[in-house]
Amino acid sequence: MYILGIETSCDETALSIVITDDTVAKSDSPNFRVLSNLVISQINVHAPYGGVFPALAKREHTKNLVPLLETALKESDLYIEGIKELDQTVKNSIAEILEREPELATALIDLFSRAKIPAIDVILVTNGPGLEPALWVGVNFARALSILTHANIVPVNHMEGHVTSILVKDDYLNQNEALYPANEFIFPMISLLVSGGHTQLVLVRDWGDYEIIGETIDDAVGEAFDKVARMLGMEYPGGPKVSKAAMKGQANDEVSLPRPMIHSGDLRFSFSGLKTAVRYLIEDLKARHGEDLDNQLIADIALEFEQSVTEVLVAKTTAAIDTYGAQGLIVAGGVSANRRIAAAMQTLADERGIPLYLPEKTLCGDNSLMITVAGFMNWSANNKTTPEEEVVAVGNLRF
Ligand code: KG4
Ligand code: ZN
Repeated sequence: MYILGIETSCDETALSIVITDDTVAKSDSPNFRVLSNLVISQINVHAPYGGVFPALAKREHTKNLVPLLETALKESDLYIEGIKELDQTVKNSIAEILEREPELATALIDLFSRAKIPAIDVILVTNGPGLEPALWVGVNFARALSILTHANIVPVNHMEGHVTSILVKDDYLNQNEALYPANEFIFPMISLLVSGGHTQLVLVRDWGDYEIIGETIDDAVGEAFDKVARMLGMEYPGGPKVSKAAMKGQANDEVSLPRPMIHSGDLRFSFSGLKTAVRYLIEDLKARHGEDLDNQLIADIALEFEQSVTEVLVAKTTAAIDTYGAQGLIVAGGVSANRRIAAAMQTLADERGIPLYLPEKTLCGDNSLMITVAGFMNWSANNKTTPEEEVVAVGNLRF
């Protein structure tokens, strides 16, 4: 069967098409072939604002989804030309569902006046957490497509997508078994989810059975990276740029930062104070060395910041592993692309004698393949779908 995944929770518009049988959660060798996996990043649109601007994200998703769908259908050999007017009742339903995204309705109706309706069986769509206006575009698009294709809809928790992203093999393209068998993992596992919007420790009792056991009380770790980057004169999203600068950093007596909440005795994080500490440190260094900090000093600040974040993440993740007797460690989300953090997590996993699972590098950040995997794992395990009219976006959706 053909399954379609849609992700629009933040600033990436993403769409995937996979062909699979229905045994992903159960089989030792699940058949799962990725036919198309597309992402349009809106980084350039949001960069001038120094962060993601929800109304712009919504506008971009609205613009991007139909061209992405057309490309994905072509890549999957599901684009079959055939001029045929859609029924007026179908057109009316689409216009009603996409009332707030009329240009999306027009583009969709235009696409399926040129091409035949594809044989999609299941639509997996992120319904939260994320920016609500952005999520709604994906949800309404999925609903409209479900009217056209009669496909069932499975709403997917974005964070569950990040957890299950590690099931995708590194060389997933063009192979029939793109996933590691889900039943080969030993539970419980701890999952550290680190992105621009989230910093969470999740107890994974089984696929589909999650509990948040610790999270940030203020900023997310990726957000802290982005804000520090901005203070250091680097463009949004600055996480990778801070990380690059940190590679040239050296220990420097003048550059020291706190390790927030490292001894708090619980699994909570806080990165807002660290960001403020960086601001004071920069002011202090400017007072001493002049307004233009040289590149070495910037690299030293980046290094100290990255080290502080890494130490805190490692301390809390260690406590979580020990408290829950974890048999595996998953680190996912955009910040899992950070080399220092990934290396520190590998050391921790080695010390505890448990495996570390990281996503394939293009799947660390937001993508729709992880949504397809999470949604299809759920569907394959319990066959539960949600009626089209009941699928809603929930900005603050929790596990
Ligand atoms: O998962 P993601 O793509 O989107 C969200 O759901 O937020 O994560 C994006 C975040 C941004 O804050 C970005 O700066 C950060 O991940 N990031 C990094 C690195 N690569 C991406 N942070 C630190 N080091 C990196 N190498
Ligand atoms: Zn994410």
